[in-house]
Amino acid sequence: MNNIKTLGNELTKNNQTCTVKTVNVIGDTPVLPLFLKNYAALIEKGYAPQVMNGTNQSKAVYVEINNQIVGHIVFDVMKDSFNTAYIILSCVDEKYQNQGIYKIMFKHFESIVKKLGSTKILSFIHADNQNRLAIWKSVGMIPQFYRMEKRI
Ligand SMILES: CC(C)(COP(=O)(O)OP(=O)(O)OC[C@H]1O[C@@H](n2cnc3c(N)ncnc32)[C@H](O)[C@@H]1OP(=O)(O)O)[C@@H](O)C(=O)NCCC(=O)NCCS
Repeated sequence: MNNIKTLGNELTKNNQTCTVKTVNVIGDTPVLPLFLKNYAALIEKGYAPQVMNGTNQSKAVYVEINNQIVGHIVFDVMKDSFNTAYIILSCVDEKYQNQGIYKIMFKHFESIVKKLGSTKILSFIHADNQNRLAIWKSVGMIPQFYRMEKRI
């Protein structure tokens, strides 16, 4: 049982109604194939490492417009002292970007993970994706570490 729950309707910046939903296990839901497609696209762009984070058991907050998923935040809750909510992949369909959908999802995501006991949210962004730093800052995420690497 995946426990898909509808969290409510919201308006995008274009005054389009979207439905926000959450699922506590993405396996056997329509979120899974979209997550995998978006993950593959990010790897192909070079913005994600070529390893797989997230599993069938990962959770998600997602948004539907006209019964189609147009964005998702897939996440895990880590077993550390902050119950850190680790965002594996946030994505909004290109056609629907810049309409405030990420911000809508993030608001619901934050409220859900607080209820799950999280006191910290974590995500990784490729250094070349930094031009989008404004997006993360808009939801209160602040860079904390730079991951240093050297090819040898
Ligand atoms: C990152 C992403 C999820 C943002 O989704 P979105 O729905 O377009 O974002 P929103 O419209 O909610 O915008 C959020 C804030 O960022 C700002 N923003 C959006 N795009 C921006 C850009 N290209 N440059 C600067 N600021 C931007 C918006 O103005 C908004 O702030 P505001 O409400 O204060 O104006 C989306 O661009 C995406 O799916 N990208 C491809 C996948 C990706 O790179 N994921 C990240 C890896 S985890």
